Amino acid sequence: MLKKLLWTAALALCVSTSHAGESHYATTPPDIVVAMLDSVDVTAADIVVDLGCGDLRIPIIAAIRYGCSAVGIERDPIIAAVARANIERNNIGHLVSVQQADVLRMRWTPARKVVTVYLDGELLRKLRPVLERLPPGSRIVSHQHRIPGWQQAKPIEIHGHRLYRYRVERATRKVKVCGPQGCTYKNVAYVAVRGY
Ligand SMILES: C[S@@+](CC[C@H](N)C(=O)[O-])C[C@H]1O[C@@H](n2cnc3c(N)ncnc32)[C@H](O)[C@@H]1O
Repeated sequence: MLKKLLWTAALALCVSTSHAGESHYATTPPDIVVAMLDSVDVTAADIVVDLGCGDLRIPIIAAIRYGCSAVGIERDPIIAAVARANIERNNIGHLVSVQQADVLRMRWTPARKVVTVYLDGELLRKLRPVLERLPPGSRIVSHQHRIPGWQQAKPIEIHGHRLYRYRVERATRKVKVCGPQGCTYKNVAYVAVRGY
């Protein structure tokens, strides 16, 4: 309960800070954050990464709700500072961190991830090759915008908010290989991203 109150206070600070800056930015309402995380079955073994984390609400809610580690990536230095303050306000620095960086320069560790995004379609298009390098078993949930070019399932709709979910999977396909002895088929492994 105490954590919840502190978190609410943290959000109030974030919203006022972002409105005072030059650019307005939208945030995901807390009930939609919970729906996003629940929809991709986050567990304590996952690492949640919010690309373009704003005030860090998604990583903070993930860590409090599931006990998982969570990271936010934020390009704007002022918003990143607010996110850092929210870690302290919630006393959750043992689970949550923030990096001030451009999401298009992300490098992944081999551990499977849950990646959350609430970014515009053009940035998502550029981000797609970065997301395609995620380790198999990772899930991606996008608030409001589909990720261009990926196989799409029906989105989850919650009072006007759309959630698009994707899974990174190992897959194989047969490839015809021809040489002097004739042609054979070989199984070639690759990583596929599928909507679900
Ligand atoms: C719509 S807000 C979403 C905030 C938060 N994820 C949420 O759902 O409430 C998008 C955030 O992404 C940040 N952002 C935009 N482009 C970025 C980039 N290339 N790298 C890192 N952050 C970026 C913006 O500064 C903003 O804070």
